Amino acid sequence: MSFYEDRIFPFFMEYATRVFRREIAQLIGTAQGRVLEIGAGTGANLGYYTAGVTEVVGIEPVAAMLQKAQTVVDSAAHEFPVRLQVGDARKLPFEDDSFDSVVACLVFCTIPDPELAAAEMRRVLKPGGKLVFYEHVASSRSKVQVWQQRINPVWRKLACGCEITRDTRSLFESAGFRFEHIRDFEHPKVPPLMAPIISGVAVK
Ligand SMILES: C[S@@+](CC[C@H](N)C(=O)[O-])C[C@H]1O[C@@H](n2cnc3c(N)ncnc32)[C@H](O)[C@@H]1O
Repeated sequence: MSFYEDRIFPFFMEYATRVFRREIAQLIGTAQGRVLEIGAGTGANLGYYTAGVTEVVGIEPVAAMLQKAQTVVDSAAHEFPVRLQVGDARKLPFEDDSFDSVVACLVFCTIPDPELAAAEMRRVLKPGGKLVFYEHVASSRSKVQVWQQRINPVWRKLACGCEITRDTRSLFESAGFRFEHIRDFEHPKVPPLMAPIISGVAVK
């Protein structure tokens, strides 16, 4: 990882995604039991887990981000264990059917081969387990889509692999998830290319 990826981008990411946190906090409040958060980043979501949780396991491939997330864990008094480890959502080092909830927030934009990650999330979820998600996605408006396609190559470089052209809704459906509820909307406080969001809960 480069100095930019390890030290500069995490600050940019935290600042740029602050606008989403209130909604993410509400959503994560629905996670229950043993929880896996994929792409935990700098730990921005770790304070949002509530009493229905028995354990949180966070995985994140960038060790520098994980170090920052660990300081969040160390400085908080959680009522349940929170364990962070370096890991890749495309190859989860966990047993089948071992989590009650998986949380994916602003991460399916960045994972290469997101189909593998979706299949892995489903594998580690217990039957009836819940995928809690909040993701920015490709627009359904063709004019915006064209601009997303144009800007994406530059954006991907600046934002360490983040794509603004992903159809994450279809990806989850193709992986076999059934939506319990999904909100598909344009965030009013975000520039149009980043504004299309899907959020909700899908069931294995
Ligand atoms: C925009 S950040 C969001 C971080 C965090 N989820 C949040 O809400 O702040 C995207 C995250 O996905 C992580 N990521 C990228 N590739 C991944 C992979 N293969 N498996 C798991 N996480 C990955 C990145 O390292 C980064 O932390």
